[in-house]
Amino acid sequence: MNIILLGPPGAGKGTQARHLVDTRGMVQLSTGDMLRDAMASGSEMGKKVAKIMEAGQLVTDEIVIGLIEERLNAESGAGFIFDGFPRTLAQADALAALLAKLGQSLHTVIEMRVDDDALVARITGRFTCGSCGEVYHDETKPAAVEGTCDKCGSTDMKRRADDNEDSLRTRLMEYYKKTSPLIGYYYAKGDLRPVNGLADIDEVTASIGAVLS
Ligand code: AP5
Ligand code: MG
Repeated sequence: MNIILLGPPGAGKGTQARHLVDTRGMVQLSTGDMLRDAMASGSEMGKKVAKIMEAGQLVTDEIVIGLIEERLNAESGAGFIFDGFPRTLAQADALAALLAKLGQSLHTVIEMRVDDDALVARITGRFTCGSCGEVYHDETKPAAVEGTCDKCGSTDMKRRADDNEDSLRTRLMEYYKKTSPLIGYYYAKGDLRPVNGLADIDEVTASIGAVLS
């Protein structure tokens, strides 16, 4: 079962994807995480995208489609979760073609509905474990022991360079201009399932579980 988590920055895509990995053995493909890994490794591509990401703009279709193509294979276990991909109609078409080449298809597109007011608080309060990637929030999901990851015990907690109000404004504008047309695209195909992303994390998890069962 291959699914897309679709929603604006801070909608909770990464949080819910990690839960699906833990509970269903699905494989998370987050283009944002892949691009951040490329930046951390100091690769040419990483250097090229750093400024674009920090400003909150989309990187080119060619780069992200290439990243997904490298990771997509027949060994998807319980299925792929596309987190933050596709983000343009060209990426959506490319994904359909890549899946078809593997004899696979898309099961569902989960649209995580939130309103913009909630997103500033979510984004500015977020921090992540640099070791295992667990996602936290200063208020809604603090670590049990401050500064230590509940999941792996690492003390390497990180905040993202693009998690500030200026960059968020650009990221939201990019979302509405380039990504939100995908809602209509997948609705027309009959694949779209909206969930209320404003509910508590556990309630959103339950709504997604209901959609997938
Ligand atoms: P990416 O990394 O994909 O970022 P994003 O889409 O902006 O989304 P976020 O990761 O910020 O939010 P999320 O929905 O995962 O929320 P999370 O679960 O962390 O992309 C970053 C950049 O990379 C882009 O701007 C672009 O430059 C580039 N890029 C990536 N993919 C690309 C592509 N396909 N094409 C072109 N460019 C691309 O949750 C947020 C916070 O809220 C956390 O603190 C969490 O604990 C908290 N939270 C989560 N759910 C809830 C809840 N229900 N209630 C309360 N708090 C909650
Ligand atoms: Mg994310």
